[in-house]
Amino acid sequence: MSGIVLVTGASGKTGRRCIAHLVKQGVRVRALVRRDEAARELRDAGVEEACIGDMFDTKVIATALAGVAQVLHICPPMHPSEHELACAMIDGSKRAGVRRFVMWSVLHPHAAVPHHQRKQRAEADLIESGLSFTILQPGRYMQHLETIWGAVRTQGLHSFPFSTRSRFSLAHLDDLAAAATRVLTEDGHENAIYELAGPEALTQQDCARILSEALGRTVNAQAASIDEAVAKGRAAGLPEWRIETLAIMNRHYDAHGLEGNPNVLRWLLGREPKTFREYVQEMGSV
Ligand SMILES: NC(=O)c1ccc[n+]([C@@H]2O[C@H](COP(=O)([O-])OP(=O)(O)OC[C@H]3O[C@@H](n4cnc5c(N)ncnc54)[C@H](OP(=O)(O)O)[C@@H]3O)[C@@H](O)[C@H]2O)c1
Repeated sequence: MSGIVLVTGASGKTGRRCIAHLVKQGVRVRALVRRDEAARELRDAGVEEACIGDMFDTKVIATALAGVAQVLHICPPMHPSEHELACAMIDGSKRAGVRRFVMWSVLHPHAAVPHHQRKQRAEADLIESGLSFTILQPGRYMQHLETIWGAVRTQGLHSFPFSTRSRFSLAHLDDLAAAATRVLTEDGHENAIYELAGPEALTQQDCARILSEALGRTVNAQAASIDEAVAKGRAAGLPEWRIETLAIMNRHYDAHGLEGNPNVLRWLLGREPKTFREYVQEMGSV
């Protein structure tokens, strides 16, 4: 597959990781960003072009899509207008003659969590759009550990606001980005929905045990209180829609976790997906 790939959400955690893998494979990337500084950073990281603007603005969308062969659409997390944004991106892509639309969705988009269900509606519109598409459904990233790394190191505490027994098929962001890059660099992934789950379904207790063994000190798992997480979100100035969505998500995780099957990710990578233990070793060496 040749031609320019437009990456939306390009300056975020997912966007940057996907771009690093795409650039390494020689793919020409146009990044849609909203800040000059992000545009500079991404050009330094090998992006050919940066389109600067608000991705919710249809004029910006049209400019960003002009002359593009493929799109990797990554919506800002939990955004209340995710479905409308996806529709605008899909319509714009049809008008611009985009050859393939790759959507960064989520594992189990049908789950009773608002942003999962918005992704499910976006998937349905993409499937019926007439565009050639690939839908990627990634599981929870291992990289969430970075948000609690300080507490892991200083207090020996692995604590997210859900049960320590809920299971998650944690996936390494590099593996997810490598899978996306394969999809964007070869034919044969048209009209596919790929569940991208990590290799093991781990609880917080499992993660704490692996961390204890890797770091050589005791790390305990503890379910943080959802009410406290809400209060922290307010103190940090998160918008109310995001705080509410996070609370619903964490209640759902508390009851059900988020487990998937790693077969498709293994096949796309051509090797075993990275384990949480391998990821912890990477973190420990930082
Ligand atoms: N975290 C997980 O475990 C997980 C698992 C599966 C799927 N996902 C999905 O992955 C997606 C990306 O998540 P992430 O953690 O990579 O997000 P992130 O790091 O918060 O990045 C979001 C990006 O969107 C950009 N953005 C926000 N509003 C914008 C606007 N109006 N115009 C242009 N750009 C805008 C941000 O730009 P700035 O840099 O300027 O802020 C940033 O580049 C989400 O849809 C999420 O649901 C996440």
